[in-house]
Amino acid sequence: MAATTDIFKNDILKDKVLLCSGGGSGICRAMTEAVVRHGGKAVIISRSLERLEKAAKEMSEATGGVVIPIQADVRKPADVENAVAKTVEKFGKIDYLINGAAGNFLASFQNLSYNAFRTVIEIDLMGTWNLTKAASEYIKASKGSIINVSMTLHYTGTVYQQHAGAAKAGIDALTKHWAVELGPFGVRVNGIAPGPIENTVGMSKLSSTRGGYETIPLGRAGTVTEIAHSTVFLFSEAASYISGHMLVVDGAHWLTNHRP
Ligand code: HXC
Repeated sequence: MAATTDIFKNDILKDKVLLCSGGGSGICRAMTEAVVRHGGKAVIISRSLERLEKAAKEMSEATGGVVIPIQADVRKPADVENAVAKTVEKFGKIDYLINGAAGNFLASFQNLSYNAFRTVIEIDLMGTWNLTKAASEYIKASKGSIINVSMTLHYTGTVYQQHAGAAKAGIDALTKHWAVELGPFGVRVNGIAPGPIENTVGMSKLSSTRGGYETIPLGRAGTVTEIAHSTVFLFSEAASYISGHMLVVDGAHWLTNHRP
């Protein structure tokens, strides 16, 4: 990703420790890299250790910072407990959590099997809950901050997206519940809802700009760097009174009558 240091001071997240699910690729990788570029250290988790190791190495080389890969399936409580324990063993604390691990595909109600629906709910919604449950005491101890990665497709009844939409609606709800329940401990909980972001799995799988960008008021897809900027902002002191908010980063796309 492009350097983001032109916008924010280089050290605004200095010595903060991030744990990010889904950080081996796409949007969450860029979110992780942005935190490290601004002084943080990171642990990235996902199912594919090979992908994580490659991403961690590349991010470390690009930033000069520390990025550690840990294999974990967010559907498995033992895996996320292990990832949290290893993060604390390595860095002594956890300040920031990004819940980004997700699975998605287009499927009509008719073609969506029981197992397919459950799989997406388990990865996206249960995965978000599991990792936050495992990390919450550490986040409280550091008066840290959580960002849940959502989407906008459930704001309307987007076709072929009921599985992901139901999961992300649950994630939006958790964002509010946790903001209220963890706020008294000094923890801020927010979300980012990306729209069509170029060069991502979501964009290629869902192809939400079939035929061009005319359905996006800003006239183009977003970039992972733009999601990264929002991440740095929400974690930083600049957002110190923002909690329970879902920040939509979509060029006003969802406000139009779009289809995937
Ligand atoms: C219908 C499908 C399917 C498809 C899988 N399934 N792909 N059904 N259409 N295209 C069904 C399978 O047939 C199976 O059901 C069930 O889902 C579980 O599939 P598995 O492959 O066994 O599960 P798993 O290996 O856990 O894979 C999960 C996955 C996978 C979601 C299917 O694609 C994945 O993990 N992808 C990760 C990357 C990803 O998708 N990222 C996108 C994020 S984008 P049966 O009944 O046959 O057993 C995003 C928002 C984008 O989240 C917003 C953009 C604007």
